[in-house]
Amino acid sequence: MHSKNIQLFKDKFGSNLAILAHHYQSDAIVEHADLVGDSLQLAAAIPELEAEYIVFCGVDFMAETAAVLAGPRQKIFSPDLGATCVMADMAPDYLVNNILQKLNHHQRVIPLAYVNSSIGVKALCGEYGGSVCTSSNASKMLTWALTQGDQVLFLPDQNLGRNVSARCNIPDSMTQTIDIRKKGSNINPANLASKKILFWPGVCAVHFRLKAGNVMEIMHKSPEALIVVHPESHPHVVDMAHASGSTSKIISFVEQAVPGSTIYIGTEDNLVLRLKQKHPDKNILPLGAGYCSNMAKITPELLSSCLENLSSDNAVQVNPSLISNANKAVETMLRVTAS
Ligand code: 13P
Ligand code: SF4
Repeated sequence: MHSKNIQLFKDKFGSNLAILAHHYQSDAIVEHADLVGDSLQLAAAIPELEAEYIVFCGVDFMAETAAVLAGPRQKIFSPDLGATCVMADMAPDYLVNNILQKLNHHQRVIPLAYVNSSIGVKALCGEYGGSVCTSSNASKMLTWALTQGDQVLFLPDQNLGRNVSARCNIPDSMTQTIDIRKKGSNINPANLASKKILFWPGVCAVHFRLKAGNVMEIMHKSPEALIVVHPESHPHVVDMAHASGSTSKIISFVEQAVPGSTIYIGTEDNLVLRLKQKHPDKNILPLGAGYCSNMAKITPELLSSCLENLSSDNAVQVNPSLISNANKAVETMLRVTAS
């Protein structure tokens, strides 16, 4: 019934409506999407879309980023803004601001936030001369950020930060995870001065479930199997895998594997199961990350009722005082990535 309703609204609005879905959405949502992509592809698509009504099926930071990039005619909608990201919530903007102020007394610290962060954190990145990144462009953005000041604060995902720093050949001795307990009062910037990169201690609740011990067991049991994981996974897991990358990179890895391959995939299960259905000639298995409970909040029922209520009153609102700096941070990412 919901599916039929969604189709009726799509017919009614035609090209004036675009439904965007992240790869971690369920098949019941993906089947209605005009565009399915990773975080970078979906953000980069916004300025190119002609539709006035853009419905974003993903978590709140994705819809907020879309609202920052939207043109004056465009309105962004989310079927459920209660679909938040556990990792983004680990870096509240007031705390990021306190810590940035403290660190910047000592030397020029450039914040580089994973897009999985609040609009307040993105605005701080713009204000402090930093930017944002996704898992697709994190190496390029980290390389850029290192040229902008004395030190980079990478947040909120410590695992992605560590994996990308390793790819940029930054030795572990030049990095440190900061202590954000007690509102950062334990941080002594002088003791961190020799570090090139500081990491915020955030983590993805889904990729956190992937353990190096399990990967080792699989490699022992099935030495022929290929293992591909998302870089939000622990560096020990990433180091053991045959490949790591964004959701779109994982998709390409599976597409390029020869028929008959056994492939363990370490990312959200909706994507793993979709790849399994799409590639019956390959033996595709989940590594055990499971589902993201927040991505799962978007249901056909909520999508249908969102489409029923497409009015300015229900569009995603971003605090106007944050838009300019958040936009600066996101536009910098799009510019540096395209260069
Ligand atoms: P990507 O699609 O950019 O790899 O992002 C993964 C993710 O965790 C989104 O929440
Ligand atoms: Fe956040 Fe992880 Fe869920 Fe992505 S998969 S929305 S990073 S908790």
